[in-house]
Amino acid sequence: MCGIVVYAGRRGADAPAVVLDCLKRLEYRGYDSWGIASLGSDGRIATLRRVGKIGAVRAGVVSRSLGIGRVAVGHTRWATHGGISERNAHPQLDCSGSLAIVHNGIIENYQELKAGLAPGKHRFASETDTEVLAHYIEEGLASGQSLAEAARGIAKKLKGRSAFVALDSRSGQIAAVRLGAPLIVGVGKGGELFVSSDVNGFLERTNRVMYIDDNEMALIDPGADGARMPVFIDVGTGKRVKKRIVRIGWKPGRESKTGYDHFLIKEIMEQKHTIAEAINQDDAKIRRAAGRIRNAFGVFIVGAGTAGRVCAAGEYLFSNIAKRHVNSAVASEFGSYRHYLTGRTLVIAVSQSGETVDLLDAIGVAKSRGARVLSLVNVFGSTLMRESDDFLMLNAGAEKAVASTKATTAQLSLLTLLAYATAGRLEEGKRLLLNTAEQVNDMLNPRYEERIRRLARKLRGKKDIYIIGRGVNYPIAEEAAIKLQETAYVHAHGFAGGELKHGPLALIGRGSPCIALVAEDETKREMISNAMEVKARGGYVIGIAPENNEVFDYWIRVPDAGNASPIVNIIPVQILGYHLAVLRGINPDYPRNLAKSVTVK
Ligand code: AGP
Repeated sequence: MCGIVVYAGRRGADAPAVVLDCLKRLEYRGYDSWGIASLGSDGRIATLRRVGKIGAVRAGVVSRSLGIGRVAVGHTRWATHGGISERNAHPQLDCSGSLAIVHNGIIENYQELKAGLAPGKHRFASETDTEVLAHYIEEGLASGQSLAEAARGIAKKLKGRSAFVALDSRSGQIAAVRLGAPLIVGVGKGGELFVSSDVNGFLERTNRVMYIDDNEMALIDPGADGARMPVFIDVGTGKRVKKRIVRIGWKPGRESKTGYDHFLIKEIMEQKHTIAEAINQDDAKIRRAAGRIRNAFGVFIVGAGTAGRVCAAGEYLFSNIAKRHVNSAVASEFGSYRHYLTGRTLVIAVSQSGETVDLLDAIGVAKSRGARVLSLVNVFGSTLMRESDDFLMLNAGAEKAVASTKATTAQLSLLTLLAYATAGRLEEGKRLLLNTAEQVNDMLNPRYEERIRRLARKLRGKKDIYIIGRGVNYPIAEEAAIKLQETAYVHAHGFAGGELKHGPLALIGRGSPCIALVAEDETKREMISNAMEVKARGGYVIGIAPENNEVFDYWIRVPDAGNASPIVNIIPVQILGYHLAVLRGINPDYPRNLAKSVTVK
């Protein structure tokens, strides 16, 4: 959450414009407010801060306010401490306005730190935890410390995961400090340097990166003729750390909406090819991963939110396909399982961004117990990928909409493939998934979308939607609920079909919409009975199923995909969520209160 960008360029460079462009690529990390601070040729810092999304801001707006400078820092915010307002937007400044700070994460002990500042000496202009950094560094600089020393001094005191950048107008230097939240340096051509919360910020401009590791600082000296290579410093010891430049041979994929109104529908439609791409893996790597699953004593699949529901489906996939017991866990709760973890445990971490803090903490727990970590991740070079013992890429391409769609089905595809490989039936798994990919390609046609749009019109005014599933489609019912909640702001609730009669049935009345995810498997008969129970109470039953049934008031056909039924069942709900959002006047790409990468606890 929150995106940070820094640019230091050559003479004549228009740093605020570059930062604006890079920040737009990070907008999915937070879109409550944004801000840019630029260091002008007069040696002063000028700032521009605004409430709202940065996506539509024109370069002229920025250059009119900030002029042209060679060095700028920017931020797009997902609010934690302090409401959504201009004064709480970043950059935050020190009392003299000669130091600008942008920050991602939470300073858990900011109240204590605030109390530790020289009494009566500072004027706090915001309600943010971030501002405390500005005043601490201000005190350090006033006492004769260098920017590096002052930034290290406060960095050592911070509790909680965060990352911050300090731009000091007096020295012209920039300190970029990573304390558990990601920050990456990009090395451009001839004296051009970038810092970004993730590579998407600058990947269009350079693929040469230097990773700042946890508890390290990159100190950048913009220099008169272009930025010098940064110096990396260990925050704890103050010693220099050697780094090398790594080339990223990965493209984030097409960034534009390419003819679609929103990223969400574009990404839903990209599932015509992303399922096949997800399973386009090196066989040897898949077999090695399957071997580790077979040989482990205890396997956990862990993820957050939608990825967490995918992991829960994985538990069923491994049981059904490989007859193996694996445990799924929600990342934020994984710490409670630590007593079960040993050096023989394998933890499979599933994530689109590879930056979700709950998941990073979970693998931290796993590693502290000696467990091995295999990650399934979409963003190359992400913290999760780098901190795992092994990784498999999801190959879904950049996912920009906050609601995960193509990364979700890529995760399901890869877990299904791993389950087949674990059973020693890799080729059979590939055949099934390639066939599913083709079926999805056929399914995602304009007539199909129109049928779901018609359903969206019927459901437009509904306040509650229920979704039921059984077996592997039970967690998919829960994921369907997440999808409808975050796209259309509808109160949606997913549960196991068999649980209806244990309570939720009391909520069903005349016209209550209930989506039944019905697969052609051993759960079908009971699922139909559960749908009957809803209908008997006046509910409006929407069947997502390969075959129509008299119990369905509205039928959305999906192909019979066998063990890949979760993949085909979730897609119509994604489309429904999209159209409900559009009909309700909601921007489906940027749901209120959410962000794409959840880097706070
Ligand atoms: C996806 O639709 C959700 N917005 C969210 O639950 C997401 O899946 C979760 O935050 C995990 O993200 P990750 O896959 O990047 O780790």
